[in-house]
Amino acid sequence: MENSKVEDLLSKINTLLDEAGTKINAADNLQILEALRVEYLGRKSQLIDILKGIKDAEPSQKAKLGQRSNLAKSQIENKIQEKIKQIKEKELKAIELQEEIDISIPPSGIKKGHKHLITTTIEEVEDIFMRMGFEVHYPYAIDDDYHNFESLNIPPGHPARDSWDTFWTEQGKIAITHTSSMQNRILSQQKPPVRAIVIGRCFRNEATDARHEHTFTQVEGVYVDKGITLPDMLGTLKEFFSKYYKKDLAVKFTPDFFPFVEPGGMMSLSCILCNGEGCKVCKQTGWLELLGCGMIHPKVLEMAGIDPKTYSGFAWGFGLERLIMLKNNINDIRLFNSGDLDFIKQF
Ligand code: DAH
Repeated sequence: MENSKVEDLLSKINTLLDEAGTKINAADNLQILEALRVEYLGRKSQLIDILKGIKDAEPSQKAKLGQRSNLAKSQIENKIQEKIKQIKEKELKAIELQEEIDISIPPSGIKKGHKHLITTTIEEVEDIFMRMGFEVHYPYAIDDDYHNFESLNIPPGHPARDSWDTFWTEQGKIAITHTSSMQNRILSQQKPPVRAIVIGRCFRNEATDARHEHTFTQVEGVYVDKGITLPDMLGTLKEFFSKYYKKDLAVKFTPDFFPFVEPGGMMSLSCILCNGEGCKVCKQTGWLELLGCGMIHPKVLEMAGIDPKTYSGFAWGFGLERLIMLKNNINDIRLFNSGDLDFIKQF
């Protein structure tokens, strides 16, 4: 075979190699690659034709062309394999991207809840008192004897302690029986005028029924300044209740005993259901007895470092659930913590 023919064939192999390389690079799926494999490496491919055509070549020419075309074959095969790998990787990535879980996406199909009636009422009560110049405090759920009792003029052994069925911890601490537990801290930490409310959960170790719960919410209030009198207290509470019940209400003070106030008493509200006319809820009296209150006992002021000769003040404490029950016609206090969704969803 003429040497120039051999050269022609060699350059043809190079051209085929280039051509195949370009097409393989451009291929974007496995079917195209398979077609290219058939075209360039199959039995009817041009490379095979070339090999068939060198039967009459001299052994050295045969060897040269054979080696060159075999090399071209394996180069094309490698390129195809490489490309297959690339395409598969790309496909996998696309799948991964599709299946990737984005944990920041809000869940769909789950119904949003809403704030509990007690929470929204706490916010409402805070709002009313803050507009009246009171600051808001929260109690410690577990407190000590001094803050829950002693600083409120209830020394150890005092019979008044029996009024509060108390949960004690093994270390002698108390699950607070009332939010009055913050009075001493508030009064000793700031100079009068002091206007503050304390809202939080209280605990009583007593049997439960429609009116009593072991865990409930109390709103304590204190107001200390020069020249504060009982009418200031009645005016303040009348204002609060009229805002909360959205109607003008009358208030009444009936003497009663609490160790931390003198005089102490119960405050009643003209019945919000019958407007004082007399109904089942107010037992035909026209009044609802709602809270304990009074003028802060001089001893309590003294224990907080306030001179009772210069300053006076009032304090009150009411149960939040009772207020809500009257407003929303709820007849069992145990419903609040029952987890009964039918009840909760109504508000
Ligand atoms: N701490 C009392 C209780 O839980 C309620 C109370 C009554 C608070 C009179 C007061 C008050 O501040 O002056 O039974």
